[in-house]
Amino acid sequence: MSRERTFVMVKPDAFQRGLVGEIVSRIEERGLKLVGMKLLTPSREQGEEHYAEHEDEPFYDDLVGFITSGPAVPMVVEGENAISLVRDMIGATDPAEAEPGTVRGDLALDIGRNCVHAADAPDTAEREISIYFDADEIETYERNDEGWVY
Ligand code: PPS
Repeated sequence: MSRERTFVMVKPDAFQRGLVGEIVSRIEERGLKLVGMKLLTPSREQGEEHYAEHEDEPFYDDLVGFITSGPAVPMVVEGENAISLVRDMIGATDPAEAEPGTVRGDLALDIGRNCVHAADAPDTAEREISIYFDADEIETYERNDEGWVY
């Protein structure tokens, strides 16, 4: 087990559908710790940087157009094995393949409008955090999460 920091974003479709609270609740209720959170419409520059690795994909323009289309909620989340834990919680990229009980398995239908994004590895987590947060926008605080709160 290792304590990790990950990047998570409630995407514009989930924001429009009033699902911010539902998605944030799942993260909090799991025992993960929110250390950064914003409400913003990603700029074109942020969207292109966020999805730079998919630049050659046929869906790239749609992906960037969608993520920059309206308010979204980027977050920084901490916890034991937070990166793989959150990826498991959100489910498969294609909601049609996502297990019930996951965010996408419960709340999404469309691969391009799949409610939430989460980093898939430590280097991508740090890179994505830096696109949306300055270092001084991430909180450091004590919480009684050494075991029994979970
Ligand atoms: S992942 O999470 O990186 O393993 O997923 P991947 O399959 O590589 O997809 C990366 C993001 O691209 C989005 N995507 C699409 N958008 C629109 N149309 C199509 N066909 C499509 N296929 C994939 C997918 O929602 C992923 O977004 P994020 O925000 O990373 O989950």
